[in-house]
Amino acid sequence: MIISLRHKTGNEQGGRKMERKEALALLTKYNESESLLKHAYSVEAVMRHFAKMNEEDEAYWGNVGLLHDLDYEKYPEMHCVKTREILEGEQAEEPFIRAIESHGYGICTEVKPESYMEKVLYTIDELTGLITATVLMRPDKNIQNLEVKSVLKKFKTAKFAAGVNREVVLKGCEMIDMDLSDVIRHTIEGMQAVSDDLGFSGQ
Ligand SMILES: [Fe+2]
Ligand SMILES: [Fe+2]
Repeated sequence: MIISLRHKTGNEQGGRKMERKEALALLTKYNESESLLKHAYSVEAVMRHFAKMNEEDEAYWGNVGLLHDLDYEKYPEMHCVKTREILEGEQAEEPFIRAIESHGYGICTEVKPESYMEKVLYTIDELTGLITATVLMRPDKNIQNLEVKSVLKKFKTAKFAAGVNREVVLKGCEMIDMDLSDVIRHTIEGMQAVSDDLGFSGQ
């Protein structure tokens, strides 16, 4: 018997690629919270931004971002674990499911970010939360004029948005070998592209 050692693609494992509208329908099926939906749109936009920068598949990276916290509203105690179950039920690709699981590395899963896409997701997830909190503090609620130094200052103020895990962000920066200020800049740029959806275009 000849055993093929070639790495199997998602489709060969029985999975399939998801369309954006399908991913969005799944997101809204499991999530109603406006802040969680906006978080999903933020992470999606930043993933697309990094994919574009690296000439990767924007739609695929975007869907990973869009669905990364799929189970959080309904199953906070089973975060990442329940998402696997849901996505398996949707016949999603194994690498897609794995990528989502890996954002909870060391917190709710033991799945270590390995691919560049997984490392980017791990790095920017918490950061989008810090940027959101920073914009919400501004009277104009406008992300278009947000400067890197303002976010950096908030990053260094541990009491500000204390729930944002700075350690994860710093670990992520090391993983992707990028300075924190550059990661912040790209994360702001990604979120700027969807400022209307986030309500961050200024009033
Ligand atoms: Fe999460
Ligand atoms: Fe998240």
